[in-house]
Amino acid sequence: MTTLEALHLAKDYQIRGSGLRPHILKAVDDVSLVVRPGESVALVGESGSGKSTIAKMLIRLVDPTAGDITLDGERIGSGHRATKRYRKRVQMVFQDPFSSLNPSLPIRHQLVRPLRIHGIVRTRAEEERELRRLLDSVNLGPAAEILAKYPHELSGGQRQRIAIARALAPQPEVLIADEPVSMLDVSIRLEILQLLDDLKRQRNLAVLYITHDLATARHFSTQIVVMRHGRVVERGPSSDVILNPIHPYTQLLVRAAPDPHSEAFELDPERYRRSPDVLVTPDDPGPAEQGHWARAWTDDAAVAELLATA
Ligand SMILES: Nc1ncnc2c1ncn2[C@@H]1O[C@H](COP(=O)(O)OP(=O)(O)OP(=O)(O)O)[C@@H](O)[C@H]1O
Ligand SMILES: [Mg+2]
Repeated sequence: MTTLEALHLAKDYQIRGSGLRPHILKAVDDVSLVVRPGESVALVGESGSGKSTIAKMLIRLVDPTAGDITLDGERIGSGHRATKRYRKRVQMVFQDPFSSLNPSLPIRHQLVRPLRIHGIVRTRAEEERELRRLLDSVNLGPAAEILAKYPHELSGGQRQRIAIARALAPQPEVLIADEPVSMLDVSIRLEILQLLDDLKRQRNLAVLYITHDLATARHFSTQIVVMRHGRVVERGPSSDVILNPIHPYTQLLVRAAPDPHSEAFELDPERYRRSPDVLVTPDDPGPAEQGHWARAWTDDAAVAELLATA
């Protein structure tokens, strides 16, 4: 099975500053990380710290300014065919199940497309069997009913299950989940994370889990990588990072979260429902503020591009 490795990844964006000269924003600056099969690595950090930019580079929606991405030690070639082969192996679940599913196509169509494009099915019979297997694996049914629906006819949680099924359709080895539950109702967040965790085990997936939520990062991941202003400030086994944070920024994040020594950090759904989301106000304005105007279009555009080329 497959290990995904990022080596000294960097991404610079040119943005317009206050003057006439363009300003370089170092959205990601020398980040390395490894995600192994059957393992989940959590990427945490405040808004604008570069988490999604890393995800987009790893899924090849965005070209790195510097650095390498390897699968089992092999560098990824460029060009359409190499990208297609890569996307069969590395898939992504986005934050927003509304914008990541095409509103004008029934679910069947959205799941069949990756199955065909990646050569998973050849006959109609295989197609039907695989569609049912996919829905089964995300605990959705009855299949005929779900497949005939349009995205707006499903709940947010059901839609995210479909997005997960679509990501699983090419039978990937690596799954990148960028805040996969933060747009969902708090009451169903845990069950979706539990589903991703079960799938990781069943399929021996390597999972990169991007989140603001330290409690679920600790619960669902072996390693935590903490980012700030595009750089990694701390990393280590999840419990170590949460219980003995070394970097002052990680200490700040942990302090802003419910007390990790308290029961609130256990994932009892009732208690979890009451625990606030992590909110951190940075003590100094970082690149996040400078580049904030650029954020708005990036997520939807990324989704659209991925769908067009997947
Ligand atoms: N296409 C772009 N052009 C210019 N700047 C960009 C672009 N995409 C991202 N940025 C900037 O890069 C920085 C990192 O953004 P990124 O979306 O990776 O942060 P994030 O950690 O995912 O934040 P959040 O937690 O809010 O999702 C931000 O300052 C953002 O404004
Ligand atoms: Mg993000």
